[in-house]
Amino acid sequence: MKTKKLIITIFGSTGDLTARKLLPAITNLTKNKEISKDVLILALGRREYTKKDYLDYMQTLTSSKLDRDFLEDHLEYFKMQITELNDYHSLKNKINEYSDRNTQNLFYLAIGPELLENVSKNIFESKLVEKLSDRIIFEKPFGHNYDSAKEINQMLWQYFKEQQIYRIDHYLGKEMVRNIVNLRFGNKIFEHIWNKDNIASITVLAKEEEGILNRAGYYDTAGALKDMVQSHLLQVLSLIVMDTPLENTSEAIKDKKLEVLNHLEFDSKLSFLGQYEGYLQEKNIPATSQTDTFVFLKAELHSKLFENVPLYLLTGKKLDEKKSQIIIEFRSVSNQLNLEKETNKLYIDISPNEGVRFNLNHKVFGLNDESATSDMKYSIKDNLKDELPEAYEKMILDAINGNNQLYVRWDEIEQSWRLIDQLVNQELDFIRYKTFDELKERIKKTEKIDL
Ligand SMILES: NC(=O)c1ccc[n+]([C@@H]2O[C@H](COP(=O)([O-])OP(=O)(O)OC[C@H]3O[C@@H](n4cnc5c(N)ncnc54)[C@H](OP(=O)(O)O)[C@@H]3O)[C@@H](O)[C@H]2O)c1
Repeated sequence: MKTKKLIITIFGSTGDLTARKLLPAITNLTKNKEISKDVLILALGRREYTKKDYLDYMQTLTSSKLDRDFLEDHLEYFKMQITELNDYHSLKNKINEYSDRNTQNLFYLAIGPELLENVSKNIFESKLVEKLSDRIIFEKPFGHNYDSAKEINQMLWQYFKEQQIYRIDHYLGKEMVRNIVNLRFGNKIFEHIWNKDNIASITVLAKEEEGILNRAGYYDTAGALKDMVQSHLLQVLSLIVMDTPLENTSEAIKDKKLEVLNHLEFDSKLSFLGQYEGYLQEKNIPATSQTDTFVFLKAELHSKLFENVPLYLLTGKKLDEKKSQIIIEFRSVSNQLNLEKETNKLYIDISPNEGVRFNLNHKVFGLNDESATSDMKYSIKDNLKDELPEAYEKMILDAINGNNQLYVRWDEIEQSWRLIDQLVNQELDFIRYKTFDELKERIKKTEKIDL
């Protein structure tokens, strides 16, 4: 157990992210002795609240029960205008009150992109971040295109050292996304078959059943392509198709992911966007909105390993189910014995039911001689008594420990925006859909893909 004092200062502490993810994650990490029990959460807000009022309000933002006893003991609500430099002096005094020489500071910017520059500048000018061990977590969206992402990076480097900057993509903290490197590089059976000679196609999908709920404001300016593909799906795909990193380090893995992003090419004729029927009637959505709530992309990677292998990305709202999954489909066996019932597929289930399944062809047992297919599976649920830690727990823990492996590097972000910009400029087909079946039918007209 670490005994060093730890202060986690949250900007935007009256928001949805803080209520649903950050407060529960910090609570669990402390109670499970992963971080110092001497932790103080400094919740910054512009509203006039006592601690009790604040915690009462935060409870209204989440359906899970906040740990009131823990938060009463470890949290302070601090009223200030985060856009006013003057207010940072009293914030600094507050932090100093709790600090000693070894205190570590983590700043979490759970605020919208419009506040990023102002708050970064104020943190810098008030000298809140001084030690290299002080870290700042920046939430997405990290820009809205290549130029703006580049501008944000330039702006941050004016104020902070790169080692202090943590650009979060919480998807990378999900259990099965963290498992990709182990699965790919820790198994002899995959070592020589993870390539174009043996893999027929790769699909990364993230389907949601819900519509946009109450996120109209942000979502309508972004859409599925920018909200999901630029960050989560491109990151997952990169891990799946990257060349073997030179060593098992954060930088070496990022170097290989970046190579993927540099050599990925989308097929704009076979890719398309969609919008669910009823989207225009959602609260606060303009009647003429052309925002995409569904994306299907076909891509190719120009690399020795995967040239000519179709790579598919699919994500959207109001689909048939909530599911995130990676499907690696292998090629047919090359012998003439006719014993293959189905092509082999490796399923990496990100959510729900985290785990891995591999469908294996075999003989039907008993007197029957026919072929059948069954799943060999590793299911986390079957092995776990308690709940899996949330992705945000892992992300916050790693930032505290100075491990940025699951955080996204500046050049990965810029290059993935470059890809998104290309797709936006190519003006992909845009359709309205009622059901996932319609989308599936359209995809299956040209692609041999099992959805
Ligand atoms: N929610 C999620 O699950 C999620 C997931 C991934 C990324 N993110 C990102 O995380 C960030 C925060 O998201 P959120 O969902 O928590 O947003 P939110 O619910 O809208 O909360 C925004 C926070 O920023 C504060 N704020 C806004 N304008 C301000 C101003 N001018 N001065 C001071 N404070 C101001 C709000 O304070 P008031 O309450 O006083 O208005 C509130 O505390 C966003 O960038 C979002 O894209 C969120």
